[in-house]
This record gives sequence, structure tokens and C-alpha cells, in this order.
Amino acid sequence: MSDESKSCATPSNAEPTATRSTVPMWIFSATLVLIYLGTVYFDHHSGWFSAKVYSPYANVDELELYQPKSGAAAQLARGKQVYEQVCGLCHGVDGLGKPGQAPPLAESEFVTAKGITRLTHIPLLGVTGSIKVQGKDWNMAMAAMGAGLSDSDLASVLTYIRTSWGNHAEVVDADAVKAVRATIKSSAPMNGDQLMKMPE
Ligand code: HEC
Repeated sequence: MSDESKSCATPSNAEPTATRSTVPMWIFSATLVLIYLGTVYFDHHSGWFSAKVYSPYANVDELELYQPKSGAAAQLARGKQVYEQVCGLCHGVDGLGKPGQAPPLAESEFVTAKGITRLTHIPLLGVTGSIKVQGKDWNMAMAAMGAGLSDSDLASVLTYIRTSWGNHAEVVDADAVKAVRATIKSSAPMNGDQLMKMPE
């Protein structure tokens, strides 16, 4: 083939076309450095997917509940925890009660009373029959849901319900619960009349 026919196949005046060029070395290096830094970060900030690190906490709020606290904050946190495990199912986590299931604790005269005698008898013995809460009659039954709780746990629950959902009654300490528990001789549930006859 002559030189002339070659120049015909690839005319010198053809449009210039982009050719593949090699990827610059710095991109490789930067990628490697990023991968390395990512690995180091993961190593320091994760539990390597260990179930012990990530469970049993479902969210940050739950984890917060278990952080060490002291004094009043600790009592309140414990009270919330016990309340939600033992009482919340019926009385609601919002303390508003549930129609046909349990009366409200928010703004209840039993919960916000000055003294804690009546209030403490309720979880220790249970309550049955007609009972008035905020002028509304409830005629149901509650078992002695708090009888198995320690004085300190019951005091925490009572403190929690007396100071939550807009309630502003005084906190309760374990000794006060112990004192009421010591006066209880029977295990029969209370009724509304009996409760109203005892001092607040
Ligand atoms: C199984 C459901 C249930 C559980 C759990 C329960 N209660 Fe009750 N509670 C009731 C019912 C029903 C009444 C009303 C009883 C009646 O009508 O005689 C009541 C009444 C009360 C009352 C008096 C009325 C009022 O609303 O103020 C208080 C206080 C109370 N409960 C506190 C508690 C506490 C504290 C716990 C947890 C330690 C608890 N309850 C757990 C169902 C429950």
C-alpha cells in the first residue's frame, strides 16, 4: 500500500478525538489513605458488631435510663422504670389511665394528696369496688401490684407518679413507705370507703 492511500484512510485534517489517559497516582493514594482512616475510625468507635455492645438497648433514651445518676434524679429514673414495667400497662405511660381498664393517676386526689398513707395502701393491698377519681366513679379491681416491690422501689414509683404529668406533690422516701407497710396487718384489698376513712 502506498503512502498516499494511507493518508487517505486517516486524513490529517480529521477532528481530534479524546484518548484514554491514565488515572493520576494521587487519587489512588488518597483513596488508600481514606480507607485506612475509615478503618481506624471504625475500630475506635464501634464494638465490631458485637451484640454485647449494641443490645439490649433499643435507643438512646433507653440507654440514658441506665446512666449512673445520684439522689433525686436517680430515684425519679428508677421510679419511671418500675412504673413503666409494673403500672404503666393499665394506667398508661402518660398517667391518664385507660377507659374500662384503670383510672388516671394524673391529677388524681389519691396520688397528689398531702400524705401518702392512702396512696401507699393501694399498691400494697390492691383496691376493689367503687372508688371516685376526679369525681368519676370507677368500680373495678386492682391487685396488690406493688406488694412485691422493695420499700425503695415503691417509694421511687410513688415519687414518680406524684411528680409527673403535671402532678406536684412531695417526694416519698423509703422510710415513709416502710412505716406504712409496718402498720398493715391484713392482705385483703381495700375498698373506696376504707381508703377514705384512713388519714390522707
Ligand atoms: C392490671 C391493671 C393495673 C395495674 C398493673 C395497676 N393498676 Fe392501679 N388501678 C387499677 C384499677 C382497675 C384501679 C381502680 C380500682 C377500683 O375501681 O376499685 C386502680 C386504682 C389505682 C389507684 C387509685 C385511683 C387513682 O386513679 O388514683 C392508684 C393510686 C393506683 N391504682 C396506683 C397504681 C400503681 C402505683 C401501680 C403500679 C405499682 C398500679 N396502680 C398498677 C388497675 C391497675
